[in-house]
Amino acid sequence: MTHDVTTFFLAWLQDPRRVGAITPSGDALAELITREVEPSFGPVLELGAGTGVFTHKLIEKGFQQQDLTLIEYGSEFVPVLQLCYPGARVLWMDAARLDSEAIGDSGSYGSVVSGLPLLTMPPRKVLAILSSRQMASLKQRISNTRKMA
Ligand SMILES: C[S@@+](CC[C@H](N)C(=O)[O-])C[C@H]1O[C@@H](n2cnc3c(N)ncnc32)[C@H](O)[C@@H]1O
Repeated sequence: MTHDVTTFFLAWLQDPRRVGAITPSGDALAELITREVEPSFGPVLELGAGTGVFTHKLIEKGFQQQDLTLIEYGSEFVPVLQLCYPGARVLWMDAARLDSEAIGDSGSYGSVVSGLPLLTMPPRKVLAILSSRQMASLKQRISNTRKMA
């Protein structure tokens, strides 16, 4: 854990806008972010996984590593995620390229969890992420569920 904090802080020193925080999220935020997500919804797409704080919480909630796809742009975090979650799919890529990379068909995921620093990103990048096929598909399914309820 201390190692994760050091890795995180050094990454922030190198690229503060990308990393967006000086330490990994705490347990309370991880709990809040993952509160509505349940294994019965299906696989999870996690954006900006960092050192895996939200990932850890998802596993505590009963998700299998095989059900997790972790998207991370920072080369310093990718080996940490691969080591800690060898069963998860860890993709070293920009979340703004969800449509152009082989992350699965739209509809492959039941939930998206994001740790992305959207406020420090250029608006064009935020738009590219929010308008990706994966996001559109999820929004559609949430809207259908609400209509049925
Ligand atoms: C605020 S940190 C959150 C990390 C972790 N989820 C947590 O809560 O500790 C933001 C993370 O998003 C990653 N990130 C930033 N821009 C990204 C992008 N365009 N695509 C994928 N990951 C990105 C950063 O490298 C960093 O790991």
